[in-house]
Amino acid sequence: MEQGEYSLSEREFSRIKERVYRVAGIALSDAKRTLVVSRLSKIVRALGLPGFDAYVDYLEKGASSIEEQDFVNALTTNLTRFYREDHHFDHLRDYVGTLISTKPRGTRLRIWSAGCSTGPEPYTIGMDLLAAYPELKRWDFKILGTDIDTAVLGKAARGIYPESELTGLSAARARPFEHLGDGTVSVPAAVRELVAFKQLNLITDWPMKGPFDAIFCRNVAIYFDKPTQGMVFGRFGKLLAPEGFLYIGHSENLGSGGDGFRLVGKTIYQSRTGAKREAA
Ligand SMILES: C[S@@+](CC[C@H](N)C(=O)[O-])C[C@H]1O[C@@H](n2cnc3c(N)ncnc32)[C@H](O)[C@@H]1O
Repeated sequence: MEQGEYSLSEREFSRIKERVYRVAGIALSDAKRTLVVSRLSKIVRALGLPGFDAYVDYLEKGASSIEEQDFVNALTTNLTRFYREDHHFDHLRDYVGTLISTKPRGTRLRIWSAGCSTGPEPYTIGMDLLAAYPELKRWDFKILGTDIDTAVLGKAARGIYPESELTGLSAARARPFEHLGDGTVSVPAAVRELVAFKQLNLITDWPMKGPFDAIFCRNVAIYFDKPTQGMVFGRFGKLLAPEGFLYIGHSENLGSGGDGFRLVGKTIYQSRTGAKREAA
């Protein structure tokens, strides 16, 4: 039995696993029992419920949409950092350099960070590309950051982080951040203006039509089972521009969703088909 105020029976754990899989596609392994107890106990206590069975009953019968969202937010894993798996940003920089040298000024450029957590991934994309190509300010350049978790999206939209999140970055990568004098740093306004954050559940319908020149979906599908991974990756293929790139996490692979892609680098895939170029 787990430590703490509430014990989690096998049946309760199964009900929680079934629910988070159904609503978010997250496949919790048996190793996540302790995590489930520690993350959900606070909510059960705050609701004044006797235990996890009563909590799942409550979610299924009487919970508000905020309370349903709290359940999902509690069970996501949001680990992220600036310039994580940084060879992807080097590759993207080269690709955008090619676009800049071959397309007219003002061309549309769209990048999607799917499962962006608190924002370091889309902000790294913006910071890195603006530093390399200041002329992008005159392009129709936008970055979309989406996540299922509304709590992380709030942090992402603020663009303010503890100074400790810059630890390990080179001086050149840390320089653009503005120190606010209270132990926090802010992403520069010019970069924040490029990024829009929206809530999006990857296992439901997507409102965007694309095409995207690049999609980052890194360390997100790792929480899904194989069929869900295949479905999500396959759908990215349909939203990518011809020649667009998909970047996935280092421990991930496309599985059954890989038909529309060819591998061009370490966890970097290029669309074989691509969406037709049309306004999003
Ligand atoms: C470990 S973080 C990865 C963040 C970033 N991509 C990176 O690599 O640093 C995984 C993110 O996926 C999100 N996520 C999990 N299931 C999701 C779903 N069904 N739809 C959208 N986002 C989801 C979580 O909320 C979490 O913020």
